[in-house]
Amino acid sequence: MIQTIKTQPYGDQKMGTGGLRKKTKVMMQENYFENFIQSVFNAIGGVKGKTYVVGGDGRCFNAEAIQKFIKMAAANGAKKLLIGQNGYMSTPAGSNLILKNKTNGGFTFSASHNPGGINGDFGVKYANETGGQVPTSITDKIYQLSKEITEYKISDAADVDLSQIGFQKIEDMEIEVIDPISDYVTMLEKIFDFNALKNLFKSGFSMRFDAMNAITGPYATRIFEDILGAKQGSVIRATPLPDFGGLHPDPNLVYDKDLVDFMYSAQATDFAGANDGDGDRNMILGRHFFVTPSDSLAILTDNYQYVPAYKNGIYGVAKSAATSTAVCRVAQARNLPCYVVPTGWKYFVNLMDSNRITLCGEESFGTGSSHIREKDGIWAILFWLSIIAATGKSVEQITREHWEKYGRIYYMRFDFEGLDTSVADKLMTDLEEKLPSLKDKYFNGYEIQNAAPFVYNDPVDGSTTKNGLVIDFKDGSKITYRLSGTGSSGATLRVYIESPDKTNFNQDTQQKLQNLLKTAMEVAEISIRTGKTKADVNT
Ligand code: G1P
Ligand code: ZN
Repeated sequence: MIQTIKTQPYGDQKMGTGGLRKKTKVMMQENYFENFIQSVFNAIGGVKGKTYVVGGDGRCFNAEAIQKFIKMAAANGAKKLLIGQNGYMSTPAGSNLILKNKTNGGFTFSASHNPGGINGDFGVKYANETGGQVPTSITDKIYQLSKEITEYKISDAADVDLSQIGFQKIEDMEIEVIDPISDYVTMLEKIFDFNALKNLFKSGFSMRFDAMNAITGPYATRIFEDILGAKQGSVIRATPLPDFGGLHPDPNLVYDKDLVDFMYSAQATDFAGANDGDGDRNMILGRHFFVTPSDSLAILTDNYQYVPAYKNGIYGVAKSAATSTAVCRVAQARNLPCYVVPTGWKYFVNLMDSNRITLCGEESFGTGSSHIREKDGIWAILFWLSIIAATGKSVEQITREHWEKYGRIYYMRFDFEGLDTSVADKLMTDLEEKLPSLKDKYFNGYEIQNAAPFVYNDPVDGSTTKNGLVIDFKDGSKITYRLSGTGSSGATLRVYIESPDKTNFNQDTQQKLQNLLKTAMEVAEISIRTGKTKADVNT
């Protein structure tokens, strides 16, 4: 039976860079999740007769959230849900299913790379029929309606068994429980030369993939071990756990230090990769070698000819403003357009849909292409393996040759976490005001060329977005400041620094960027305002 439940708004359901993210316990409050889902339904003109892809990264509250969602979709008249077996679905696999089945969109229950568990975070990502997250105009509307909500609809039917593949019905809505992996594999087989990759592993090539106890374990085991023939046990931490075994499932130098240490040890494999909680981020490592995400995007772009899906040419590339300019150097050399967009994958979607770009990426360990409308962790690893298979070169060789050709752009991101929101906001407004006065000033040996907010005019829909403050130096170095939009409490100030070098490729990154970091801290008065003398996370 369909019930109408009276409710009251919480008032804080604003979606950020990666959907709605909150503490798990906040999401578990009475009617909290339900309010948000009903607000999404209301904002998109209802779900009557519509079909959605549904799944999550397996974190705490995933199973309960999916049952609530099913009952609400049924009560609101949805036609059908395609749900991953056991409620599992990686973000890229979900995006593929939306496009393949031409559904009205999809819901992924994940707080991405944020920790999970009862004391961690939970999240909801909503994608529309493009297969990507919706533009700000829609998230604003959802937020508005969530502040006015008075009731929601839900079926009182029993929980649905999601353990068996097949069809079921609840109220008038059809449910199809599907294998969340097979369509994803089919998609990847169309992009890459799987035989070449099989031969690579046959030749004795060794790899380690760290699923960080999150959603990509089953995907990676099937793809790398079962299909491509990587040695059994190559995929580690392969079982999705509700609390990710206590890990912070963000594949970077800090949160996946285990993998980094392994790759710098005597036991290191030829290659290693890791993915985040919901499978859209990636980290790339070679034997005793780390590739920055900005370099990775540039290297993939310069080697697109080794992947069947791209070998006949790509439209163009895009990067977020905070990502290093490495990929734009490649684009320039290859006569391709290079778009620079605000942080957040949704800004790439319009560029893909209008055939302006094929490849894109962010410094935050996200790389992808127009095969779907989300970044794709396993795709990035297969791309690297394709280059290695075709060239016979190691990760380090490929990267060093890239630097020889284009110069090296030293890059690092410094995060100041747990700041008081009002302190962080004030720091940014005051800094913005000060920017024009910085022009031509010298700081610690660096001369400022220009300092201004980053403003993006979307060439497709004409919208304007302001995101972050940028200081450009005369030698090509750059400092970008922005506040994170994915935290579940407090504020995080991100300071992104890059500095190019044409000849010296063997400096320590932190050392190379030391004076720029000092400048960044001085200019924004970070220590005085936040009490922090150094960043909490460097990656
Ligand atoms: C972070 C990253 C950003 C990414 C987003 C979602 O957002 O910086 O590149 O798109 O997560 O994965 P932020 O917390 O900086 O707003
Ligand atoms: Zn993610």
